[in-house]
Amino acid sequence: MKIGILGASGYTGEELLRLLLERQDIDVIYITSRRYEGKTLTEINPRFINTRFESLKFESFSEEKILKCDLIFSCLPHGESKKILEKFLGKVFIIDLSQDYRKDERVLYGLTNIYDVYTKHFLKRTFKKDLIKKYKIIANPGCYPTSIIIPLYPLIKGNFIDKNTLIICDSKSGASGAGKKLKEDLLFCELNENFYCYKPTNHRHEEEIKYILNTKKLKFTPHILPIERGILSTIYFKSSYSLENIKSLLREFYKNDKNVKILNRYPQLKFVNLTNEIHIYLDYDKENDLFILLSAIDNLGKGASGQAIENLDILIKYSLI
Ligand SMILES: NC(=O)c1ccc[n+]([C@@H]2O[C@H](COP(=O)([O-])OP(=O)(O)OC[C@H]3O[C@@H](n4cnc5c(N)ncnc54)[C@H](OP(=O)(O)O)[C@@H]3O)[C@@H](O)[C@H]2O)c1
Repeated sequence: MKIGILGASGYTGEELLRLLLERQDIDVIYITSRRYEGKTLTEINPRFINTRFESLKFESFSEEKILKCDLIFSCLPHGESKKILEKFLGKVFIIDLSQDYRKDERVLYGLTNIYDVYTKHFLKRTFKKDLIKKYKIIANPGCYPTSIIIPLYPLIKGNFIDKNTLIICDSKSGASGAGKKLKEDLLFCELNENFYCYKPTNHRHEEEIKYILNTKKLKFTPHILPIERGILSTIYFKSSYSLENIKSLLREFYKNDKNVKILNRYPQLKFVNLTNEIHIYLDYDKENDLFILLSAIDNLGKGASGQAIENLDILIKYSLI
């Protein structure tokens, strides 16, 4: 299968290349970057010397090249992705890692674990094959939303959370979540030994989480950690169900998902980084009558490129590509 990566010089593009090296069924034939156009992949990233991607060169955008691919991963910034992709809808398969199509009714929101593709769970969403056949595009979910929607989805759909109470989601991310572009706040001297909150109101990911979970009663606050990768989300909610009831629901819902692990200990980033897994832990604070859900993912793995490859595998599994 012939693959192209738009924006291959950024963090998610690099991660896709690293992960796809293992896939003998995939041939990457086209990678783009404006900054590095004309340079070889190995000039920019020596990791690929002596690999089958050694001869790849960064190129400019070309309609002809895009249409030669069976599938395009778009790793472009939000806003830019849609400008480029819109005219290719229905012509070539696309997995878009940006937020541009995540609320588009024509497009499947590719949070792989909540689709009824592996199980026949009554709470799971129907996998809309017809939409994919028509528009040939999947919107890969955001990294913070992945860490929050996966643990909350079965609880909200199963009415396990008190409807009149607010769900509070407090998330911390490594700096790669902000992409490779230069930003003063992310310079080493600003971030090292530091830790801060940013955009505590109206973050675009809060909108995405509320849209997919179909709830208005949710508050999301993001923070940046002085580390490279990983997201830990702490989610607080009220429920009249017992700890055991809710744990059983999570276990049952994700029993066939080998990447969703319900732990008996607190999740840590070191156990999920460089994997495609999500680790979840649920606890109950009796004194405050409050449930606490913890989840950990690698923002570049399950939160981006790893999940994008899961979406590709679903297209392959259902013979859509
Ligand atoms: N980082 C994460 O953890 C993460 C997780 C989930 C989703 N995402 C989403 O995935 C997308 C890529 O994220 P990233 O972290 O890989 O970003 P990034 O590191 O900033 O990379 C962006 C890529 O797009 C290219 N690019 C930048 N501006 C462009 C423009 N105006 N027109 C065309 N190409 C442009 C860049 O290369 P040139 O400047 O050389 O062209 C680079 O290859 C974003 O939409 C982001 O929101 C990121």
